Amino acid sequence: MTVRTRTDYVEDVSPGTGALPPRARYASSDAMSFSLNGDWFFRLSEAAGAEDDSFARDGYDTSGWARVAVPGHWVLQGHGSPVYTNHRYPFPVDPPRVPDENPTGDHVRPFDLPAGWPDPGTGGAVLRFDGVESCARVWLNGTELGDFKGSRLPHEFAVGTLLRPVGNVLAVRVHQWSAGSYLEDQDQWWLPGVFRDVTLLHRPPGSAGDFFVHASYDHLGRTGTLRVDSAVAGRVLVPELGVDVAAGEPVTVPAEPWTAETPRLYDGVLATAGERVALRVGFRTVESADGLIKVNGRAVLFRGVNRHEWHPRRGRALDLATMREDVLLMKRHNINAVRTSHYPPHPAFLDLCDELGLWVVDECDLETHGFTEQGRRGNPADDDRWTPALLDRAARMVERDKNHPSVVMWSLGNEAGTGRGLTAMAGWIHGRDPSRPVHYEGDPDCRDTDVYSRMYVPHAEVEAIGRGLDGGPRARRRLPFVLCEYAHAMGNGPGGLADYQRLFETHDRLQGGFVWEWIDHGIEDERYGYAYGGDFGEELHDGNFVCDGLLFPDRRPSPGLVELKKVVEPVAIGRRDSLSPGIGRAPGTDAAAAADNSLGPGLGPVDAVRVTNKYDFADLSALAFTWSYEVDGETVGSGPLAVPALAPGASAEVELPEAPPGAPAGEAHWTVRARLAADTPWAPRGHVVAWGQFAVSARRTPSVAATAAPVPVPGEDGLITLGPGTFDTRTGALRAVGGVAVTGLRLDVWRATTDNDDGAAWQRDPRCGPLWRTLGLHRMRHRVDAVERTGDALTVRTRVAPAGTGAGLSAVYRWTSDGTRLRLTVSVVPRGDWPVPLPRLGVRLGLAAADRVRWYGGGPGEAYPDSSTAAVVGRWESSVDDLQTPYVRPQENGARAGVRWAELGGLRVEGDPGFFLTARRWTTEQLDAAAHLTDLVPGDTVWVNLDHAQHGLGSQSCGPGPLPRHRLEAGPAEFSFVFSEVPG
Ligand code: GAL
Repeated sequence: MTVRTRTDYVEDVSPGTGALPPRARYASSDAMSFSLNGDWFFRLSEAAGAEDDSFARDGYDTSGWARVAVPGHWVLQGHGSPVYTNHRYPFPVDPPRVPDENPTGDHVRPFDLPAGWPDPGTGGAVLRFDGVESCARVWLNGTELGDFKGSRLPHEFAVGTLLRPVGNVLAVRVHQWSAGSYLEDQDQWWLPGVFRDVTLLHRPPGSAGDFFVHASYDHLGRTGTLRVDSAVAGRVLVPELGVDVAAGEPVTVPAEPWTAETPRLYDGVLATAGERVALRVGFRTVESADGLIKVNGRAVLFRGVNRHEWHPRRGRALDLATMREDVLLMKRHNINAVRTSHYPPHPAFLDLCDELGLWVVDECDLETHGFTEQGRRGNPADDDRWTPALLDRAARMVERDKNHPSVVMWSLGNEAGTGRGLTAMAGWIHGRDPSRPVHYEGDPDCRDTDVYSRMYVPHAEVEAIGRGLDGGPRARRRLPFVLCEYAHAMGNGPGGLADYQRLFETHDRLQGGFVWEWIDHGIEDERYGYAYGGDFGEELHDGNFVCDGLLFPDRRPSPGLVELKKVVEPVAIGRRDSLSPGIGRAPGTDAAAAADNSLGPGLGPVDAVRVTNKYDFADLSALAFTWSYEVDGETVGSGPLAVPALAPGASAEVELPEAPPGAPAGEAHWTVRARLAADTPWAPRGHVVAWGQFAVSARRTPSVAATAAPVPVPGEDGLITLGPGTFDTRTGALRAVGGVAVTGLRLDVWRATTDNDDGAAWQRDPRCGPLWRTLGLHRMRHRVDAVERTGDALTVRTRVAPAGTGAGLSAVYRWTSDGTRLRLTVSVVPRGDWPVPLPRLGVRLGLAAADRVRWYGGGPGEAYPDSSTAAVVGRWESSVDDLQTPYVRPQENGARAGVRWAELGGLRVEGDPGFFLTARRWTTEQLDAAAHLTDLVPGDTVWVNLDHAQHGLGSQSCGPGPLPRHRLEAGPAEFSFVFSEVPG
């Protein structure tokens, strides 16, 4: 007998056949559920129809098959490989057709019903798939249940009559490519598989069906109104509120509201004849009104991130612990909102958002970005044949997630152009759930949306939008504004966060944004550390564009996340006279800071600070404030600081105590911190939520009297000494400071370009990285023009320039000494045309043995001119290795800003003014050449950069470059360092 192998459903634009209508997701206390997760039998074939359907038959022998873990992606379990593309489809665009090469995974799971499972005859049972990429056909005990698409959406099948107490066989055929793939062109790895839970649910007679919890909040009357619409008659109980009403009946009671800051949930029950369903009720009212998104009557500010689901070994098959870790990390970094880019997350993630408090923009699993490659011709979002599939996706999202108080907006999807399908989705969602605004970024006319949303808009345009000067269609002008993506966190960056935040906090219409993105999608790989696009031999790929997160793949926070935490902190602690306290330093002083590198706002006496509550709902009663007083980075006094429990938006002047008596002379700072006063569900007592630091007195700049003279070393032809310094007579090169050997000290302007320096190919504005390379800044030549010994100084005149151009820098090194310390003053004057800014400006030098680094200045982490608000002035210590920031694709990293002095390898360096410090066991050239962290091999020399200035970071890997004041334009500059041997 021939076995018929159907594959027609694979390229069918319809959502599928056989699945039950979507409904609310819930946990029942009475009905049993049985997880089918675990080890499944697995067979991979190359094409959709390469194997017949006989594997799904009763009694088929799979004993020779491989095994895969479910939930999981087979390409991450040794079968085939992952593929990464940003927006291009990795197959010819000919919707709804897919290639013949269509990896197809047959999955088989034999199971017996667990003990106590009600007799299959006594009720229904449902088989639920929470996520399968991209198309599945399902059989139970040889009977076909149906097929479905919609990878990150749930699908349920009725299976009651098919179940047996023992010897059940579930067979699932999964195709990597299907018509559904055209709707799932998100910027991420293509990862086929049964990657979310598979569950069997018993449905007793009289069990609940779909239900919709409407729980609104009246902020004037301080009451909550609850109405649970239920497909099956039942009662609604919320014991804590004394609620006991019939389903469908509204009840209004005094209640506390749910907000992301105060996530108050009430436990309730929906009791039907057959089961009791647990409810977690959060009362809140969301609206887009008066041009603002309001929750419980107040405008909210989204301090958000875009979250893809990611785990470096398991891909998008996340476990609960990882989801919880994401939410905890967000809460601990002052993030209050998450856009579930670009698909509904695992449902448990939303439970955590309800419980711990995050505003959620729940986004539908829809993106057709690759159609831009052909002028959007054939875009399914504007083709009626696809509309049922789009509506199915909208319904599966809304029905599954509608009972989560954390979900405050529905998003139609991402980058799907415009079209009738999207309008149909918006219409359906508005009808089904008028209680939440609808978001979509892709339609500039905002025909279907309740919020004006954009991505990667430069600061100036955001400001214009904030001021209402952006024009555009009338409907749009009335809408509140969010940046659904901004501050592209690829590699080293983003820069410019504080400048965005300042705009958000200034203009009401700007309701914040969502940084792109939460985590690098690097895949753990023994060849590379973390693999990215192209590492699996993909014929089309977008390289490391998939590593653009605030977390490294192993979830370690990147400096970008630490900066974001500081920038969005919900309490501003500023100088008494500050008007807009706390958002970085005052405008206008950044350029000076980039040059003088002292970090922190201006100087002056400080006897009080201004504390402002920037929460939208919470007062400050959960926080305890402390002060500390530091001199030259050493704490000489500290104590509690009484701050009133200010209401949201309120601010107060708080007197500081007298400076501790007997404090030594030196550079003094006050540091005020706001910490959690008690343990919370997301961080322990003492966790620092916000801080401010204020310089009281200026630092003492090092002074070195030029009393020593350069003299030839007797008997050592070719060497000169000047105080502790030994120099080469012919080249003037420094050889040693006392007993510390120094190599290669010279002017350095090159940095291993960051992803943001390199920029994205589509950028209209010039991108620095390519311009730098064209000019040749990565191959500068140093010509010594003169080595002059005058009475008290050794002066070396040089010209530093790349081949092929007349542009260059004349650099003069002037050395003086007081006998024990050696002062270097570098004067730089650009010659010729300099059409580009400099990457950096400073000196580099090599030290033989340096392991520990101590410094006084900005720390503990790295900082760059437009990403420096998180740097605290203090005394810090690190190993050289720990100074490195492990960006997945190696690039410039690890600079410590505002360094007053540093000690490493026996050498002490003091800056006049302060400097950026970097030290690494490889050269900049080696860093620049590396494609993966595993390419970086430590050498014997530690290369140290002492930078007078650095070019800003910006976020041009997808957004704007650094703001003008963070650019390091070539111009005359002079800076000094004082070198000495560390005593002892
Ligand atoms: C956006 C897109 C995201 C991501 C980002 C760049 O256009 O919505 O999915 O691709 O650019 O990383």
